[in-house]
Amino acid sequence: MTAPASFDVAIIGAGAAGLMCALTAAQRGRRVLLLEHGEQAGAKILISGGGRCNFTNRDAASERFLSANPHFCKSALSRYTQRDFIALVEKHGIAYHEKTLGQLFCDGSARQIVAMLLAECAAGQVDIRLQHRVTDVSKGERFHIESPQGGAFEAESLVLATGGLSIPKMGATDFAHRMARRFDLAVTELRPGLVPLKAAGDDLALMQPLSGLSFDAVAACGKRSFREAALFTHRGLSGPAILQISSYWRDGEALLLDALPGLDLAALLKDRRRSRHKAELKTILSELLPGRFVLALIEGGLANPLMAALSDAQIARIEDRLKRWRFVPSGTEGYAKAEVTLGGIDTAELSSKTMESRKVPGLYAIGEAVDVTGWLGGYNFQWAWSSGWCAGQAA
Ligand code: FDA
Repeated sequence: MTAPASFDVAIIGAGAAGLMCALTAAQRGRRVLLLEHGEQAGAKILISGGGRCNFTNRDAASERFLSANPHFCKSALSRYTQRDFIALVEKHGIAYHEKTLGQLFCDGSARQIVAMLLAECAAGQVDIRLQHRVTDVSKGERFHIESPQGGAFEAESLVLATGGLSIPKMGATDFAHRMARRFDLAVTELRPGLVPLKAAGDDLALMQPLSGLSFDAVAACGKRSFREAALFTHRGLSGPAILQISSYWRDGEALLLDALPGLDLAALLKDRRRSRHKAELKTILSELLPGRFVLALIEGGLANPLMAALSDAQIARIEDRLKRWRFVPSGTEGYAKAEVTLGGIDTAELSSKTMESRKVPGLYAIGEAVDVTGWLGGYNFQWAWSSGWCAGQAA
């Protein structure tokens, strides 16, 4: 029997976090093996940001991440910052732009980010093995890694970088969570995040015909709110404002939607009651919102009087409908549509500086596999870069 191929560091999962960890460790002189069961490295990077990869956010800060321990991500985010990643992008001559809210995208293609990471891995002579599914890991003196395609490998350090459960058809697995439990590390509750929300009953009847229509909104859940675009879908609501709030929403809770943010609607309607008294309500509302949306509200039971006949009580009802729209989603669209997985390997198990397990020396976990989840807008890749870099410095 041939002896297993031996490395200093074995990383499982060639996504954003695994690639960053690999290039960092290899450029320190470590012999690095990177195992990936997919046909290509960085598959989610390639489809991200509509093919342009929203690779970081200028405003990345710990308050924009969810975790049972909101302080955990601070150390990694400050050791390898968005500015460090931007410097790497600039070193490779990749042109980029800020789209909105600090979100940085490639001018060209997400392929440039993957090519950059692979070039940095090549500079460190990382041994990347694609189409190598890891089925089992154990620890004796060293870590022993089993892959049916590649046989066995051994390494001094092992990094779990297999991400979360989102988009199973792209190869997402629960491998990191399973291996964590195997090594007696706790895993927090898992649920889909940055995910479209479903409607039922009257809400669905209103929303379904409006599928494809977007509007500026504030979506609030408890004390948290986001002002961005919302989008009707044939199942309910999506769009950035809804994806953001979905990470804070729990089954059964109501969202409050303001479809006319920043507008004093009551004052405006009272003004139009004087100045446009012959106009129908729907004409006035159509100047503020997409016409189809207004028609659907009227068909859904909103009266359509002439402005002159509009009572204060009706104005209050319209305000309730449009600025304090109480929507109880019937559920989320699940991991098939979720951009991320909330929860993961419990941060209490890991060093916030190095991502190394406190219980199992030499075992590391990084990226989405860990219970740290960012907002929409480049935050999740920044977490992958930061946590990957920290583990790469130590493993
Ligand atoms: P990631 O999932 O990227 O990588 C894990 C790798 O492990 C995969 O390649 C998988 O195939 C492999 N693997 C799993 N099990 C294995 C096993 N048993 N053996 C071997 N390999 C295994 N974020 C952001 O900041 N900006 C953006 O623009 C977007 N856009 C976006 C679009 C879409 C459609 C999605 C689904 C997600 C985003 N995201 C995003 C989120 C972002 O893609 C995500 O947070 C990171 O990719 C997480 O990086 P990881 O390396 O942790 O996991």
